[in-house]
Amino acid sequence: MKTYDLSASYRMFEEAKKIVPNGIYGPRSPYFLTYGSYPCFFTHGKGSHVWDVDGNEYIDYMCSFGTNILGMNHPEVDAAALEQQRRGDSFTLPTDRWNILAETMVDQIDGQDWVAFGKNGSDVTTYATSIARQHTGRKLIVTVRGAYNGSHFWCSHGGAGVPPEYRAHVTDFAFNDLDEFKSIAKKNPGDVAAVMLTPHHHPAMADQALPAEGFYRELEAFCRKEGIVIIMDDIRCGFRMHERGSHVLYGIDPDLVCFGKAMANGYPIAAITGKAALKPAAEAVFFTGTHFFAAVPMAAAVAAISVINREKAPGRLTELGEMLRTGLLAQAEKHGFDVRYTGPPAMPFMRFDGDDDYSKNRLFCGEAAKRGIFLHPHHNWFVCLSHTRDDIARTLEVADECFDIVRKGG
Ligand SMILES: Cc1ncc(COP(=O)(O)O)c(C=O)c1O
Repeated sequence: MKTYDLSASYRMFEEAKKIVPNGIYGPRSPYFLTYGSYPCFFTHGKGSHVWDVDGNEYIDYMCSFGTNILGMNHPEVDAAALEQQRRGDSFTLPTDRWNILAETMVDQIDGQDWVAFGKNGSDVTTYATSIARQHTGRKLIVTVRGAYNGSHFWCSHGGAGVPPEYRAHVTDFAFNDLDEFKSIAKKNPGDVAAVMLTPHHHPAMADQALPAEGFYRELEAFCRKEGIVIIMDDIRCGFRMHERGSHVLYGIDPDLVCFGKAMANGYPIAAITGKAALKPAAEAVFFTGTHFFAAVPMAAAVAAISVINREKAPGRLTELGEMLRTGLLAQAEKHGFDVRYTGPPAMPFMRFDGDDDYSKNRLFCGEAAKRGIFLHPHHNWFVCLSHTRDDIARTLEVADECFDIVRKGG
C-alpha cells in the first residue's frame, strides 16, 4: 500500500517551532503521536474524513478529541451557526440563544435543574470544584487517579510553573476502589467537598475501565451520608453514552455534571448542570469569560443536541463501534496478537498486550496514519455518526497491513 508524503506538514512544524512554544503544544503535538508518521496540520474535513496540508486524506477516529460526534461540517449544525453568524456572535450582552440553550440543556440532562456555560471543559470542571467548596464549606476535592479533568492548575498533569499549593487540597483514588475512597473520607473527617468522576475511566496511556457492579450505587450512598458533592465530568463521554447524560447509563444521580466537546459538534462551548440545592453556591462563585456568551456556538449546540436526539446517536455509535471492534479483534487474532481492547465501543482503545512502552502501538498507529487511518497510540479513539461501513472496511484493510508490519517488527 502506498504511504503518504508528509513533507509540508513537518516543514510547517519546524517553522511554527521558531515562533510558537513547542510549535504545537499539548496532546496535538506530533511528539505525542508517532513522530514522522502523522501529519501536523489539517486544512479541512467533511463527515468522518479530514485532509492534511500535503493533500492526504484520512478516516478520522479522533474527531478532534471527541468533539465531532456527528462528523465534521454537519449541515444542520453549520446552518444554525451560520444563521447566527450573520446576526453576530460576540455581543456586550448574551443573546436570545442563551435561554433557548439553557432550556434545551435543563430539559435534556436527567436530574439537573440549572445550567451555566463556559468555553472549555476546564472552565466548568474548575467551576464545579468551587461550587462544591462553597456549598459544603469544605476544601478537599477527590479525583480519580490518572483521569484527565482539564488543564487548570488544580488538575493539570504537568507540574512546570505550578506551585504545589495549587494542589494542596486535591487528592485521588483508584477508579472502582471504594475502600480507598472511603479511607480518604475517614482520614479527612468533614473536609471532603466533592468527588469528581468520569462516567467510565478513560486515562491516556492505559486501558479504559467500566464501573464495577455496585460501584456507583455504593459511592452515591456513601456520599449522601457524608455530605460529599458528586461531580460527573462527562466532557469526553457526554452525548455518546446516553443522550440525557452518561450518568443515566450507569445509574448514578450526580449533583453537578460537566459537558463540553460533543455538545456543539465542534463549536467551542462547555456547560455545567446542577441540582437546585447547589444553585445558591453557583450564584456565589465568580464565573465569567469574555467568550462564554458567544452566540454562534450556542446556536450550534441547540442544533447538535437536536440531531443527536433524532439520530439516537449513542445507539448508532455503539453499532458502528462494534463493527470496528469485531473486525480489529479478528485481525489481531489472525496475526497472532493478544490485544487489549477496552472501553465502550463508541470510544474504544486498543493496545498490544505486554507492550508496556507502547512501541508496538506507536508503530501500528503510525503505519495506519501513513495509510490514511487516523487512530491514536496512547489515547482512546472516537467513532462518529458519519463513519460508514465503507470507512470501517477500509480501516480494516489498512489495519491488516499494519498488524503484519508489527509482526515483522517494523
Ligand atoms: C474528561 C475530560 N475532562 C475535562 C477535559 C478538559 O476539557 P478542555 O480541553 O475543553 O478544557 C477533557 C479534555 O480532554 C476531558 O477529556
